[in-house]
Amino acid sequence: MNSISSNIYRSHHCGQLSISDAGTAVILSGWVQTVRKFGSITFIDLRDRYGITQLLFNETLTTRLDTAKVGREYVIKVKGIVRERSNKNPKIATGDIEIEVSEYEVLNAAQTPPFTIEDNTDGGEELRMKYRYLDLRRNTLKNNLELRYKVNRSVRNYLDSLGFWEIETPYLIKSTPEGARDFVVPSRMNPKQFYALPQSPQTFKQLLMVSGYDRYYQIVKCFRDEDLRADRQPEFTQIDCEMAYVEQEDILQVFEGLFKHVFKAIKGIEFTDAMPRITYDYAMLYYGNDKPDIRFGMQIVSLKTPLTKQHLLTENGIYANAFKLFADAETILAIAVPNGAEYSRKQTDELTEWIKRPQIGMTGLIFIKYNADGSLKSSIDKFYNEEQLKAIATVCKANPGDILLILAGKEDKTRKAMSELRLEMGARLGYRNPNDYKPLWVIDFPLFEYDAESDSYMAKHHPFTAPKPEQLHLLNDRSQYDSIKANAYDLVLNGTEIGGGSIRIFQRNIQEQMFAALGLSAEEAQEKFGFLLGAFEYGAPPHGGIAFGFDRLCALMGGQETIRDFIAFPKNNAGRDMMLDAPSAIDEAQLKEISIKLAE
Ligand code: AMO
Repeated sequence: MNSISSNIYRSHHCGQLSISDAGTAVILSGWVQTVRKFGSITFIDLRDRYGITQLLFNETLTTRLDTAKVGREYVIKVKGIVRERSNKNPKIATGDIEIEVSEYEVLNAAQTPPFTIEDNTDGGEELRMKYRYLDLRRNTLKNNLELRYKVNRSVRNYLDSLGFWEIETPYLIKSTPEGARDFVVPSRMNPKQFYALPQSPQTFKQLLMVSGYDRYYQIVKCFRDEDLRADRQPEFTQIDCEMAYVEQEDILQVFEGLFKHVFKAIKGIEFTDAMPRITYDYAMLYYGNDKPDIRFGMQIVSLKTPLTKQHLLTENGIYANAFKLFADAETILAIAVPNGAEYSRKQTDELTEWIKRPQIGMTGLIFIKYNADGSLKSSIDKFYNEEQLKAIATVCKANPGDILLILAGKEDKTRKAMSELRLEMGARLGYRNPNDYKPLWVIDFPLFEYDAESDSYMAKHHPFTAPKPEQLHLLNDRSQYDSIKANAYDLVLNGTEIGGGSIRIFQRNIQEQMFAALGLSAEEAQEKFGFLLGAFEYGAPPHGGIAFGFDRLCALMGGQETIRDFIAFPKNNAGRDMMLDAPSAIDEAQLKEISIKLAE
């Protein structure tokens, strides 16, 4: 238990005193949690960061309290003696004692808070964000921030012990592309010109490698103007790292070590085995996305894939063509859900509705129930006899008692929908226990991503990622772009990407080829990234790195997926700070100073 140094406000804190302190004269200060009057005496629960201590006000003091009201969230200071309590409360650390108050002083009055400062508050999200400083008084948030602090310290301990230097990099920079829009800042001293806030310190950490600081890290704010979700904030924190003279394997080892160190130090969880590694292609095929939740199986089975254009069904002697939907579909995917054979009509109807929601957008769901007695019943009985259904169940490695959920349609959309359905069924079956941690590496990401709309290729990770050395020559052949893989990797935990990185390009000519592949002319490349291309001409070492989403890591360690409550002052889903009411308009004079005229 932490102690505090004694001064005029307090000799102890509110989580500190126990029966062994009985008889001691103490001074405590804190916030009034509750006031309970019992006849002629009054109990006040006094709260601070450390806990709650019960105060007993005798008859005389109670009379004073009656006239000069002390209410919830008042800041008071009391002097008194620690006494053993007759009515002990085993739920709190100080539950054996109370303070018999001899003197009290109101240090500051408080308005009635707009919501109760309790674990289960009555305040809605928006209201709590507006009064964030009050929300932060609640245990829930306090515990989250304490966890965040501890994770931060443990990360630093680990990296410091390995000789990493923490080096700060600037926030007012030129765009660093990480796939989002930039936040821009006008420059008063350079009229009509703008800085961009960093989407990450990517280029700076590479330059530090050129400078010879071969182990760098930074716990750093990054800014991305993108659509927000539960695990995305417009400004968020990365544990950003880079190393020189390394291969992918070195990076995976060091940062698997970081993950394991932090989990052991903070949660007492020891991961003794090497983390599983799967390729991007494997993840897409069997989980339908590149950040698989491997806390449960229910892997996706392809009954027909565009890759082979073959019907697995046909291979098993079943004629898919019997059913037009299957015959026409680019892809047919299935999962076998344990104990689903018992689902009622109502339950299967509800699942169908779920898959038809606009967010998923499939037109329907096909069921095959593999009953416990071995019989089969399906929504496609018209087209397939029992023997054929059995063959499908066998391909899907289904067990008696399972239900097969089948989706058919266009490849990308169907795979994405099946991935969502798998996660939903995993959640419904209780397989997604937040205290069950299953990390893995996803490796061998594609170098490029094709954008059909603009008929162009974008960097899958970022433009500084190196292709696999043996595929380097393919950079000159656009027809091969889809097949180029990168030494790029993500660390995935329970279905969330908590980190990502790559081995970098470190030679000017290759970086130039990469920019060209991404559609940048030589002039554009020079204008945007001349500093980096230039640096590569002065002895750039081979290097690579990774960045972890610090907020995401903390949230998952706290058993949650939403990062907002692991950030002291977050933004809402519209990117607004509800407390500051930002962003907001600025006055004419200020606009003029930065040479900006607003559009009508
Ligand atoms: P990347 O873009 O993958 O890589 O980001 C690294 C990690 O940061 C987290 N993250 C976010 N967290 C909260 N809100 C956001 N808006 C957000 N965006 C990303 C994720 C992600 O895995 N420079 C590279 C790293 C490198 O190559 O070394 C980069 O930024 O957990």
